[in-house]
Amino acid sequence: MNSTMQNISVEKVKKSKIEEVDFNNLAFGSVFTDHMLVCDYKDGAWETPKVIPYQPISLDPSAKIFHYGQSIFEGMKAYKDDNNKTWLFRPLENFKRLNISAKRMAIPELPEEFFMEGLKTLLEVDNQWIPQTEGSSMYIRPFIFASGNGFHASPADAYKFIICLAPSGSYFSGKVKVLIEEKYSRSANGGVGYAKTGGNYAGQFYPTQLAVAKGYSQVVWTDDHNHEYIEEAGAMNIFIRIDDTLITGPTSDRILDGITRKSILQLAEKKGIKTEVRKITVTEVIEAAKNGRLKEMFGAGTAAVVSPISGFGYKGVDYDLPELESSFASQIKKDITDIQYNRAEDPFGWRVGL
Ligand code: PLP
Ligand code: COI
Repeated sequence: MNSTMQNISVEKVKKSKIEEVDFNNLAFGSVFTDHMLVCDYKDGAWETPKVIPYQPISLDPSAKIFHYGQSIFEGMKAYKDDNNKTWLFRPLENFKRLNISAKRMAIPELPEEFFMEGLKTLLEVDNQWIPQTEGSSMYIRPFIFASGNGFHASPADAYKFIICLAPSGSYFSGKVKVLIEEKYSRSANGGVGYAKTGGNYAGQFYPTQLAVAKGYSQVVWTDDHNHEYIEEAGAMNIFIRIDDTLITGPTSDRILDGITRKSILQLAEKKGIKTEVRKITVTEVIEAAKNGRLKEMFGAGTAAVVSPISGFGYKGVDYDLPELESSFASQIKKDITDIQYNRAEDPFGWRVGL
């Protein structure tokens, strides 16, 4: 994927909207910065990206994104340290995963410099927008969709790569109580579960609405075959602590290979926490909950960071998790966010300064 990128052009807004934003009360992903990065794929090649004012996109009603859902996205964050310096966390991993998703969805892969240089330029232009308030960060949403037209059910001939920035606070408000799914499936063997494609999320909305109506905030997906194994939640990977062992399921073509998940595994091992990557049965989790060996469950993801789970439901029964003084979740959350916000050494070389 060689590219001959020209300089990224920047067209700035006439007047910034930044003064309208309350940076002390940021929700997740609902306020957008002044600019966005746009890059078109036409005639068999990606064109040089440009930074333009944040604005709606005009598409033909026959654009294939509307009909066949050919779209992929990434989720990442930029953090500001106490000296006002901006940091990214393992951005190359997001770039690589975007192209893994692209391949699966028959979308042309993006050259690395378009992603990395485009992102850096956009973050420099909107740098004032990166929150410095504790617990907030700049949520970054790179995405690609089929902008080419026609009802023929085949890959489009034109695509758009866009990056939008949303200064954001926490993804979850309040306790996270989950429902372990016994009927619906998020993904299947040989399917697209490992790709960050829109349909994986749309398909979860209805079962999640049913779970929310029963008082749960997320569904924990189980395997599509027998609903026997714990897989992942709607927007995060899942960790389970039984006694003093931290367990997470292996990734597969049904599960997103989360960057937070793999970072946590390394951090936990470095701290001397015993970790296991293996299949976890629902039965094992229920048994452990009944005999007091289930100490913690938490979700892990860019948006979710490390989100402790307060309890779960399964087949009409609710199970509460204990509230621990110093949980693995709180220790690991501190360790990972200290690296992300440049408050601690970064022994793994994950941080990338702007
Ligand atoms: N699983 C799903 C379905 C997700 O949407 C996400 C979020 O991106 C994750 C897991 C966690 O992945 P990451 O840690 O790379 O953000
Ligand atoms: C992320 O954590 O970045 C995600 O993409 C999850 C999303 C559904 C908010």
